[in-house]
Amino acid sequence: MKLAIEVKGLRKSFGGQTVLGGVDISVAEGEIYALLGPNGAGKTTLINILTTLVPADGGSARIAGYDVASEGGKVKQSISLTGQFAAVDEMLTAEENLRMMCRLSGMTAAESKRRTEELLRRFDLSGAARKRVKTFSGGMRRRVDLAISLVASRPVLFLDEPTTGLDTVSRRALWDIIAELKASGMTIFLTTQYLEEADQLADRIGVVNGGRIVAEGTAAELKARVGGEVIELTSEREQWSRTVATTGSVQDIGRVLNALAPTLPPDTQVTIRRPSMDDVFIALTHQTSEVSVS
Ligand SMILES: Nc1ncnc2c1ncn2[C@@H]1O[C@H](COP(=O)(O)OP(=O)(O)OP(=O)(O)O)[C@@H](O)[C@H]1O
Ligand SMILES: [Mg+2]
Repeated sequence: MKLAIEVKGLRKSFGGQTVLGGVDISVAEGEIYALLGPNGAGKTTLINILTTLVPADGGSARIAGYDVASEGGKVKQSISLTGQFAAVDEMLTAEENLRMMCRLSGMTAAESKRRTEELLRRFDLSGAARKRVKTFSGGMRRRVDLAISLVASRPVLFLDEPTTGLDTVSRRALWDIIAELKASGMTIFLTTQYLEEADQLADRIGVVNGGRIVAEGTAAELKARVGGEVIELTSEREQWSRTVATTGSVQDIGRVLNALAPTLPPDTQVTIRRPSMDDVFIALTHQTSEVSVS
């Protein structure tokens, strides 16, 4: 198995704050890896280091076999990046944005025209090609952004929160595009705060919290780590709900329910279900699973 991304003991601090405290990640060629973590977990910092925008304090990272610290130029020629915040010129049309990036990447006018048309078609933007990007919806902007980062074909693609802020329809449209890019053989490293997104797209998921990878595996493996079954307790009247992980055995479920019963509102409903990615995330990042609305 050839590795497209190989990160070892990567560290980064800003001032006295440790943002990455020794991160290890390996991504095989052709794989989609999702880095899942809450706000401020260090996702963008890691992407910035892997794409040579920010130097690490320690550890090492190789992209497509090249070292990010000593072979930055080679790394840049191997990657595409769609950052967390849009890099499009809002006053230009989608077509103008793409043509400009093609020309800047060294294509002739004729090549630029051909590549721009191809990308507009692929990202379903042909109809809006001559409209200014400032009139576009969030989903259309994101597609322009992704198209721009794919002007040159490169083997490794970094996507920093590609669907944050998009509605369900636009999100699914982007998921389809990302799946197509994978099918074309690209290695994709994406960050997300959405469990469902990691679950849907990724071959493997790394959960980052407190500057470290606290868990890694397929969605099924991560769910299995949480335990057998999850008990969900809900009180409509008190607008309250709570989830409790169990081993899934009758004894354990009985024990949990007996222990909690005296403290529960009288109208509490019980559901027993398989763990979701939400449960995994809560368990692994030690966030509280208790929700009290009132
Ligand atoms: N250039 C910088 N100078 C100082 N602190 C920084 C810098 N860049 C990032 N940080 C800090 O590092 C931490 C991680 O930030 P980062 O942007 O990597 O998180 P993130 O996981 O991408 O979050 P989000 O989901 O909100 O995008 C934050 O506390 C942030 O304030
Ligand atoms: Mg970020």
